[in-house]
Amino acid sequence: MKGWFVGLALVVVVVASGVGLWITWDSTQISSADPIGPTVGLVSPPTSSTRPTTTSTTVPPPPSCEAADDPVDGDPMTDWATLVVDPAHRLPEGFAPTDLVEATEAGFEARDQVRAIIVDDLAAMRAAAEANGTPIVVISGYRSESYQQELFDRQVEQSGEQDATLRTARAGHSEHQLGTAIDVLDPGVGELTPAFADTPAGRWVAEHAHEYGFVMSYPDGAQDRTCYAFEPWHLRYVGRDAAAAIHDAEVTPREWMWAARATAADAPG
Ligand code: DAL
Ligand code: ZN
Repeated sequence: MKGWFVGLALVVVVVASGVGLWITWDSTQISSADPIGPTVGLVSPPTSSTRPTTTSTTVPPPPSCEAADDPVDGDPMTDWATLVVDPAHRLPEGFAPTDLVEATEAGFEARDQVRAIIVDDLAAMRAAAEANGTPIVVISGYRSESYQQELFDRQVEQSGEQDATLRTARAGHSEHQLGTAIDVLDPGVGELTPAFADTPAGRWVAEHAHEYGFVMSYPDGAQDRTCYAFEPWHLRYVGRDAAAAIHDAEVTPREWMWAARATAADAPG
């Protein structure tokens, strides 16, 4: 992604913060230990690499997390780095990527599938984690819409609908259906709990995944902006440039993507 484009996306977030567009957001769930923190006041000033060439556009903040079935704003095959897939925006019915491959192609033992476009960076991340002595395993990759429905129904049975919506996406609304999201764990800790964040692999992933193009979609203390509870294991591939920009901007991936899509829509053809 071009530097000016990323910069422009970033500056619209800053501008929107400045004019108080987010003042009605519920900030009660943001803890002081929040690594992402509230958007207002924490967006870094543009650096030389993200400085925009124009500042004339403002964009609305991301929509609320309320469940809806608005179509995603883009093509899931080509717009994988910026497509907002959340409780309000669903993928086209039955969407499945056409380039799925086994995660074994990236050196994992898992039988999960991922899109071919992420394999090189996924393999590089796997090797780097292992070389550091903090290996990771993939426990989930691409999920079909029908499988996601099963998972959601199971979660509702386990913990009730309200809690389920904070933990599991409804069918059509999961980043896993893109084929570019993975769940990773420490081989020694087989459960999807926030405790993963405190494992050696969890700490390595939080610090280094962006270097390989992966971002943590649902960071701690940002539920009002990500729409989901903390998931230190859920990584989405956005490519190395976008991951670096999101990391530097200290905004959640959803906020960054929303700004990027809005900026792209406004850009002269
Ligand atoms: N756990 C995430 C939100 C999903 O189901 O896609
Ligand atoms: Zn996940």
